Amino acid sequence: MIINSLSISDFRNIDYIQISPSENVNIIFGENAQGKTNLIESVWLFTGCKSFRSKRDSELVRFETEYAKNGIEYFAFGREQNAEIIIDKKRHAKKNGIELKSPSQLIGEFYAVIFSPSHLSLIQEGPVNRRKFLDTALCQLKPFYAKGLAKYAHTLEQRNALLKDIQFHSELYDTLDVWDDKLSSYGAAVVSERIKYVKLLSENAREIYYGLSSGREDFSVEYINNTGLYSEDAYEIKDFLLKRLRETRRDDIYNKITGVGPQRDDLNIKIKGISARKFGSQGQQRSCALALKLSEANIIREITGEEPVILLDDVMSELDLSRQDYILNHLENRQVFITCCEPSVLNLSGAKAFHIEKGCLI
Ligand SMILES: Nc1ncnc2c1ncn2[C@@H]1O[C@H](COP(=O)(O)OP(=O)(O)O)[C@@H](O)[C@H]1O
Ligand SMILES: [Mg+2]
Repeated sequence: MIINSLSISDFRNIDYIQISPSENVNIIFGENAQGKTNLIESVWLFTGCKSFRSKRDSELVRFETEYAKNGIEYFAFGREQNAEIIIDKKRHAKKNGIELKSPSQLIGEFYAVIFSPSHLSLIQEGPVNRRKFLDTALCQLKPFYAKGLAKYAHTLEQRNALLKDIQFHSELYDTLDVWDDKLSSYGAAVVSERIKYVKLLSENAREIYYGLSSGREDFSVEYINNTGLYSEDAYEIKDFLLKRLRETRRDDIYNKITGVGPQRDDLNIKIKGISARKFGSQGQQRSCALALKLSEANIIREITGEEPVILLDDVMSELDLSRQDYILNHLENRQVFITCCEPSVLNLSGAKAFHIEKGCLI
């Protein structure tokens, strides 16, 4: 996946920018609040996913303008292609000149992996962030996963609503069987995909972390399935989840919420055998998050045969020199966009540098 041309207009604080990026490393530099992350965000949106920092699309449109319009010409799946995203109250997308029903149809057409300082939350904060990481990675790779996840979430919501109603309408009790059956089928598909993904993640991230720590530290990540079953077979998971839903039904009615299932699962990330969340230093935690994100890129390549574009927002200044070196030496054959305040920290031959000030190139 190589972007040959990127144009951005009326997006965030960017009035108009057009660049022809390098096939390798692109350094976006400038002072704080000038539009560096905005440029990275504009590239990310071509994945078809939502922004990594705004829930509402309308926040992406430059103040006092009506719409943003961003375009890329890129090489993917063996040919030159183009895509366009127009944002007014929401996002609209075109690919090769054809209007798509939804921007999410770009998923699987353009791959990118983003790493920003906020990804430290992957290690430091609660399980929601880790599940979100898995779900976002899987949604980009497998559109059917996104559909299955949505069905699971919808069914879970309905079962939870029913749990609240049962106290007033005891005749509803028997309908739980139908919901449990559906929920365990959809849930099993989610858990099975996540477990398979974490296996790939674990192998990849262990190797990257080993390199990042100059061979000094061992890294591991495992999927914590709250039902206690460790199988990646969807049928086995379904049976077990259904059994657990029945066993915990009384508690669920009492608590008015479903207590078992993938909405409670987590990742256990360890360095040298102990929890990175509880005992890792800031630097170790940052390296863990980075190892997971760089693994995400490797897995996209392994599964799709396409190299995703790598977006590294404000990463370098927070890493020591040997870790910076490791990253820069492991990005060859990939197109990378790196933001930083001071380009001299990145002494790279073949890199293109773009200086951004108040949303314009200078
Ligand atoms: N919709 C918008 N319209 C105009 N300016 C915006 C919009 N959204 C964010 N900004 C501005 O963009 C700037 C931040 O840009 P950003 O890319 O995050 O900076 P940095 O260069 O530090 O990465 C802020 O000054 C913010 O006010
Ligand atoms: Mg920034």
